[in-house]
Amino acid sequence: MKFQGSPSSRSLPAAFLPLCWLLLETVPLGYGHLYNNRYAGDKVIRLIPQTEEEAHALKKMYHQLKVDLWQPGSISYVSEGTVTDVHIPQNASRTLLAFLQEAHIQYKILIEDLQKALENGSSLRTQRNRRSLSDYNYELYHSLEEIQSWMQHLNQTHSAFIQVFSIGRSYEGRPLFILKLGRKSRAYRRAVWIDCGIHAREWIGPAFCQWFVREALLTYKTDPAMRKMLNHLDFYIMPVFNVDGYHFSWTHDRFWRKTRSRNSRFRCRGVDANRNWKVKWCDEGASVHPCDDTYCGPFPESEPEVKAVANFLRKHRKHIRAYLSFHAYAQMLLYPYSYKYATIPNFSCVETAAYKAVRALRSVHGVRYRYGPASQTLYVSSGNSMDWAYKNGIPYAFAFELRDTGHFGFLLPEMLIKPTCTETMLAVKNITMHLLQKCPR
Ligand SMILES: *[C@@H]1O[C@H](CO)[C@@H](O)[C@H](O)[C@H]1NC(C)=O
Ligand SMILES: *[C@@H]1O[C@H](CO)[C@@H](O)[C@H](O)[C@H]1NC(C)=O
Ligand SMILES: *[C@@H]1O[C@H](CO)[C@@H](O)[C@H](O)[C@H]1NC(C)=O
Ligand SMILES: *[C@@H]1O[C@H](CO)[C@@H](O)[C@H](O)[C@H]1NC(C)=O
Ligand SMILES: *[C@@H]1O[C@H](CO)[C@@H](O)[C@H](O)[C@H]1NC(C)=O
Ligand SMILES: [Zn+2]
Repeated sequence: MKFQGSPSSRSLPAAFLPLCWLLLETVPLGYGHLYNNRYAGDKVIRLIPQTEEEAHALKKMYHQLKVDLWQPGSISYVSEGTVTDVHIPQNASRTLLAFLQEAHIQYKILIEDLQKALENGSSLRTQRNRRSLSDYNYELYHSLEEIQSWMQHLNQTHSAFIQVFSIGRSYEGRPLFILKLGRKSRAYRRAVWIDCGIHAREWIGPAFCQWFVREALLTYKTDPAMRKMLNHLDFYIMPVFNVDGYHFSWTHDRFWRKTRSRNSRFRCRGVDANRNWKVKWCDEGASVHPCDDTYCGPFPESEPEVKAVANFLRKHRKHIRAYLSFHAYAQMLLYPYSYKYATIPNFSCVETAAYKAVRALRSVHGVRYRYGPASQTLYVSSGNSMDWAYKNGIPYAFAFELRDTGHFGFLLPEMLIKPTCTETMLAVKNITMHLLQKCPR
């Protein structure tokens, strides 16, 4: 399985090598730009309205220009004193900047040229040459196909700990694979659910899910905490929840967020898979418009991916003790509720778990995470998976918003996969160990 296609190039006479290098160097200048160079000159701008009038003016401007909101997910959240990161196409950026200067609205350019940022430090271009599974590189982002082969490979090579199965099919017909991790046993054990990649463009999520599996297998023998976790719990891990969207973010639009389902009345495709759950569905913080990034869908669980996972969780809710969902970016650890400003029953157990997890995370590289109920810490949103899991009887429900806070945003460089995953690993282990103990009250 090692580097398909490379043996022939390796056996080339040395004299041909300089020519090969030359070709590699020149190809990207011709047709090799990622995503057909579609982000050339685009900018990511942080807007910082100070007054209600400024926020209002920004909302109006948003409707005129085609902007892609990076943070927060919906224009309705734009308000005075909060920051908004927008990705603005090249041909509209001059208009926006002129407007901002005229209206004296504070802003900061986070990314000057999105295409350049995308191509800087990215090894996407050589992805195709990285096929080795025995020597899998966890410090790279991987395509859906690579992640699925990786799962199949582990299913075959680590059958004492891993079992891979599908819980259904996506809108475009792709299998929805789950990786069950834990020491094989007949006992009916408590379980932890982990999903990554509900939102397609948040690539650090799937990278973390894979990292988690690797660490578990690697440290089972040496780390007593990991051994305890894998001996006493089953982990259901879904490395890529939104498979169609993730695939699309590799092939067509790096900043795609939603699923890829079609709409009968609009040309826009996709539903926000984190607004499609039957818990205060399509209320505050979700959009009824199919072209919006927070579109809640025509009805709850309209998306086959959401329905498949909801069915699975319903079926196993008696023994699933924790639900963990991985997103980016904001550096936050969130728990219910998202849809209202209220604290959950047993708040102190969950809060203690979050506080300890965030402290454990910070002990690694000093990175600070905020934590708290999602409605108060991030923003109010309805119909999301975390609230749904909690409402359906899973007592520990968390959503991580991984690195960073906007410097790279969704384009977190591959160089930062390792530090991000290392620190997050400690937080997840801490939460999991907390479950195995009695909740301190
Ligand atoms: C920018 O370009 C896109 C596509 O090339 C076009 O649809 C849009 O109308 C243009 N916007 C402005 C403000 O010129
Ligand atoms: C390019 O990537 C490196 C690390 O991968 C980063 O330090 C640097 O700031 C990036 N430059 C730009 C222009 O994004
Ligand atoms: C995983 O392995 C088991 C046992 O060999 C097999 O029955 C199952 O079909 C495999 N899963 C997938 C998704 O191929
Ligand atoms: C609160 O915690 C107690 C003890 O840990 C548990 O029995 C009870 O079911 C919990 N209630 C809720 C609403 O989670
Ligand atoms: C969890 O993290 C806290 C620090 O926040 C630490 O004191 C504790 O030992 C950790 N627990 C486990 C089981 O890792
Ligand atoms: Zn997300």
